[in-house]
Amino acid sequence: MADKDGNIDAKQFHTDTPQESHGFPVKGGAGLEWGMRHRLARIFDPADARTVMLAFDHGYFQGPTRGLERVDLTINPLAPMANALMATRGILRSVIPATSQNALVVRASGGPSILSELSDERIAMDMEDAARIDAAAVAVQVFVGGQHETQSVHNMTRLVDAGMRLGIPVLGVTAVGKELTRDSRYLGLATRMIAELGAQLVKTYYCEEGFEEVTAACPVPVIMAGGKTLPAIDALTMAHRAMDAGAAGVDMGRNIFQRRDPVAMMTAVRALVHENLTPAQAHEQYRDLSGGAED
Ligand code: R5P
Repeated sequence: MADKDGNIDAKQFHTDTPQESHGFPVKGGAGLEWGMRHRLARIFDPADARTVMLAFDHGYFQGPTRGLERVDLTINPLAPMANALMATRGILRSVIPATSQNALVVRASGGPSILSELSDERIAMDMEDAARIDAAAVAVQVFVGGQHETQSVHNMTRLVDAGMRLGIPVLGVTAVGKELTRDSRYLGLATRMIAELGAQLVKTYYCEEGFEEVTAACPVPVIMAGGKTLPAIDALTMAHRAMDAGAAGVDMGRNIFQRRDPVAMMTAVRALVHENLTPAQAHEQYRDLSGGAED
């Protein structure tokens, strides 16, 4: 049995040496089957291998959370600025126009609501339905250290196997329970487990200390999770720091759709990720487009 502390405390991350890409721009993707690479190339802009993903799958456990009471009115104007949309199949089929040009990352786990134990999820969609809806990837929560850790890992590995059969990548999401710390030690453990067990993409929270070690030690793209709504400048600074520390993109929800001017924020986030705007420049763009909103 490998030594737990020895593994986690090893410091050979070589954060200044990018992983070899072997001719395919998405990290760790060169050896994948053509269809899977084609799907990844829809999520990540091939010009810079980065993505701006817009998350609005919250209803699968939270119901109509603030900003998502009417997805048709809130999200559809934002979609053209996103590379990918992260949503449930129910919302995609009922609300999102099939003319959408976005890559679709479809929620494939679920079960418990905010009224019960969130880690007790199951697979909530067949991979055949993901293919039918033209998913570029499916998303699954992984509760490392949570009450139902093994079940959630099993959900992910079953989806990875099904995805390998149909050429559909899996986005493993590090789900952080109330009791778990969001530090690089925990996030490094969770992201690496998800990648080792086969997910082609990982979504995780940002941490101030050691995020570059989290991304360096994860052999597939790490996409920064947005989290609760912060002041606009703080959200933009967090996204910039995550990208600077090796994230391949951002997947933001509340920090965009709960804003006073979601379209302005979406535009600023896109410019920050794809045009390398600084947080101050992106915030200025947000203020200009929103007619002076700070937050
Ligand atoms: C999180 O794990 C779920 O997928 C959420 O429903 C969503 O993606 C969270 O987005 P945000 O925290 O940026 O609002």
